[in-house]
Amino acid sequence: MQVIIRNTMVEASVWAARYIADKINAKAAVSDKPFVIGLCTGSTPIETYAELIRLVKAGKVSFKNVISFNMDEYVGLPVEHPESYHSFMHKYLFDHIDEPAANIHILDGNAPDLAAECAAYEKAIEAAGGFDLFLGGVGEDGHIAFNEPFSSLQSRTRVITLTRETREVNSRFFDGDLEKVPAQALSVGVATVMGAKEVVVLAFGSKKARAIKDAVEGPISHYCTLSALQNHPAGIIACDEPAVGELKVNSYRYFKATE
Ligand code: GLP
Repeated sequence: MQVIIRNTMVEASVWAARYIADKINAKAAVSDKPFVIGLCTGSTPIETYAELIRLVKAGKVSFKNVISFNMDEYVGLPVEHPESYHSFMHKYLFDHIDEPAANIHILDGNAPDLAAECAAYEKAIEAAGGFDLFLGGVGEDGHIAFNEPFSSLQSRTRVITLTRETREVNSRFFDGDLEKVPAQALSVGVATVMGAKEVVVLAFGSKKARAIKDAVEGPISHYCTLSALQNHPAGIIACDEPAVGELKVNSYRYFKATE
């Protein structure tokens, strides 16, 4: 695992966006096959998406041959709801880049058969050739996608019941009202994310410091599902300084020195 540390959230986001653009360009230089990327939502990736939009507009990267799969979506929230992850992705990324609409995949939290929707999503990822790169965030409790504590590290896309803590944290997007936050979500599994050739996770702010400590220095455990990244051959966590505030001094120095 590599931990990239930048002074600020913006600097770390710019680093991540350029890293992703370089990977898209590197594949395009040697192959006609699409670049398959996993994408996340939340407040964390917004600056990374803004920088990717700038890079597309400047002609430095194109999403014409990119296929994306979002990691999660609430169950039962109308697609047009401003807090649906469909709305989020269009607002912060898809409406501003050149990715063909047919290449965009987001789980349908209103599907009549949610289990079938999840199974079809896994098949579609496989049919696309699997992920070249998965971009993720992390919850305050260390969850990756919506893989709450005690999710199997072998899990695949499925229906998840959200913890009260996650609903509380996300209630800031729902007028501060926990009851308005859907109780369930569809989410790719830990194994779905870890199946990517590369995983880049963003973490910003002191609220993520405990999750980063657990994921980086703790044991691999279903208690902190991001810790599964320790077993990944190409895992990166890109942080600002506050997010690494609980790492041991020696860990911090190691990651700063080895970048
Ligand atoms: C939600 C999402 C996660 C995201 C997390 C952190 O639980 N399902 O994918 O990583 O929130 O959100 P934020 O970036 O707003 O801190």
